[in-house]
Amino acid sequence: MTESELDIHRGATEIAEALCADVREGLSAEQKWLPSKWFYDAAGSRLFEDITALPEYYPTRAEREVLAREAAGIAKITGAHTLVELGSGSSEKTRLLLDGLREHGSLRTFVPLDVSEAALAEAVEAIQADYPGLDVRGVVGDFTEHLGLLPGEPPRLVAFLGGTIGNFLPADRGKFLRSVRDVLGAGEWFLLGTDLVKDPETLVRAYDDAAGVTAEFNRNVLRVVNEVLGADFDPDAFEHVAHWDAGNEWIEMRLRAPEAMRVSIPGAGLEVSFEAGEHIRTEISAKFRREGVTAELADAGFEVEHWWTDAGGRFGVSLARAMS
Ligand code: SAH
Ligand code: TRP
Repeated sequence: MTESELDIHRGATEIAEALCADVREGLSAEQKWLPSKWFYDAAGSRLFEDITALPEYYPTRAEREVLAREAAGIAKITGAHTLVELGSGSSEKTRLLLDGLREHGSLRTFVPLDVSEAALAEAVEAIQADYPGLDVRGVVGDFTEHLGLLPGEPPRLVAFLGGTIGNFLPADRGKFLRSVRDVLGAGEWFLLGTDLVKDPETLVRAYDDAAGVTAEFNRNVLRVVNEVLGADFDPDAFEHVAHWDAGNEWIEMRLRAPEAMRVSIPGAGLEVSFEAGEHIRTEISAKFRREGVTAELADAGFEVEHWWTDAGGRFGVSLARAMS
């Protein structure tokens, strides 16, 4: 696997410029925040893979259970020639879909798209090795910007797994779903994984594990800002907080400064001060209900044809069709 085999819409310069803009906006806001895509450099992607194996982090296992059970049916229903995966990461669970589509005989092209070049390069290499004859076209890009550039013959199945849809704020989520609908022709398919509302203890534990892996993952965003923009954050000085917001039904990830501090970010021309107890919001992970998912997909121009959950009812997977 060489880098040139990946289609790169985001090189080092674009990354630094985009991070600079996000840091200026987010860290000079009244309530400080950073967009969650900045967790995922090579180290962040590895930490996320570690999260998926944690005893507390049930979403990966629950979604895998659904995909294992339904992949053959999904292949038969969609007859997809192209599988596109947004925010594909390691594409580990996606192998279940690839297996189903390959056995069904329709699959020609797999297009994984991710901001993390490291994670994508590794996934593409492994999948090329294990699926000889499959046309694999990795795209390094941002799924909020680069959907128009996706290759592959219709009918396409676009998969968005892992509950990553929950990482959008509600308004951005609607915009994103419409942008997915816009690149599809009527009758093409969208497979969406959504983590479901459940007891707050289970939810908080999934985002605040005993081994502290999620805390390290959260702090990684500060390491990325240090590396790319020459900032002097002391990541270990920040506390990891996973807060359940019952009104919004989302988990909010925070990095909290226990004492007052000042951070300089030369690459963004910024000096940032924190009061004792002040936090940066680094991520939300919204939790869903069936009715809400169906309604939001309908608003975006999709009709949900199937809704599946794991046996424990923890995680939902929707198969939706682009309406004309
Ligand atoms: N689909 C995998 C990974 C989920 S983690 C799974 O289900 O386990 C979220 C993934 O989305 C990461 O791989 C991250 O690099 C990617 N990602 C986050 N924001 C992104 C963006 N704006 N554009 C493209 N990929 C993004
Ligand atoms: N898409 C994943 C989720 O919302 C991302 C994630 C898992 C995450 N654990 C995290 C993001 C911890 C930030 C911190 O479940």
